[in-house]
Amino acid sequence: MTELTKQKKLYEGKAKKVFSTEDPAFVIVSYKDDATAFDGEKKGTIRGKGAVNNQMSNYLMGILERDGIPTHVVKELNERETVVKNVEIIPLEVIIRNVSAGSFSAHYGVEEGIEFKEPTFEFSYKNDELHDPLLNTSHALALGLATKEEIETIKAYALKTNELLQRFFKECNVRLIDFKLEFGRLPDGTIVLADEISPDTCRFWDAETGEKLDKDRFRRDLGGVEDAYAEMMRRVFGS
Ligand code: TMP
Ligand code: ASP
Repeated sequence: MTELTKQKKLYEGKAKKVFSTEDPAFVIVSYKDDATAFDGEKKGTIRGKGAVNNQMSNYLMGILERDGIPTHVVKELNERETVVKNVEIIPLEVIIRNVSAGSFSAHYGVEEGIEFKEPTFEFSYKNDELHDPLLNTSHALALGLATKEEIETIKAYALKTNELLQRFFKECNVRLIDFKLEFGRLPDGTIVLADEISPDTCRFWDAETGEKLDKDRFRRDLGGVEDAYAEMMRRVFGS
């Protein structure tokens, strides 16, 4: 493939920009240092975050791809930018939890840190105006967000991703508490893992101390945000 370059900005989200390329089958994502929380109500900058998230996400998706989960990643161009397949994003946030935390603890009135026997699986409807409401499979089908077969595929990929990521992060001395995935459709209908896997979209706790090494440091004003992202980068790339 000849080298693709950024043409027109197609979209700018809270954490990434997406550009068209010379080939309509591919787009370039550019990761920003901007951080938001609570539907964009809280805004800030996490210096170096774009570079960490881009490289970490590509590395992790490479591991998943080798174990049979198709992803959108094509080629990392530089620290912040990657060529990915141009997919139609399915507006479902797919959340897997291994340990209670965040909105699970808030909704169900339990402390954070309770290890589950089996991972939980949930969807939210990716819609900022509605504040990403929780929804179940029948709701997703009723809204026409995905087909039954697509939802089965997504669920299988998400649970397999959890197994592979848990195994990987254990080696990094990190507990994978929970995470959010997004999936997309290729023009031929194939479902692929899209978006990112990073400290923005996962909860990571140090396996020994329980220290938070993810975006909760920003959401909850815990300080040491940049250091946590840099530490996760070291753990993943092992230097
Ligand atoms: P939650 O406990 O707030 O529902 O978050 C569950 C996981 O999803 C956590 O790892 C953070 C991630 N997440 C996102 O990636 N984007 C979001 O907008 C939210 C609310 C959570
Ligand atoms: N990035 C999300 C937002 O601004 C929320 C989060 O990650 O907590 O809505």
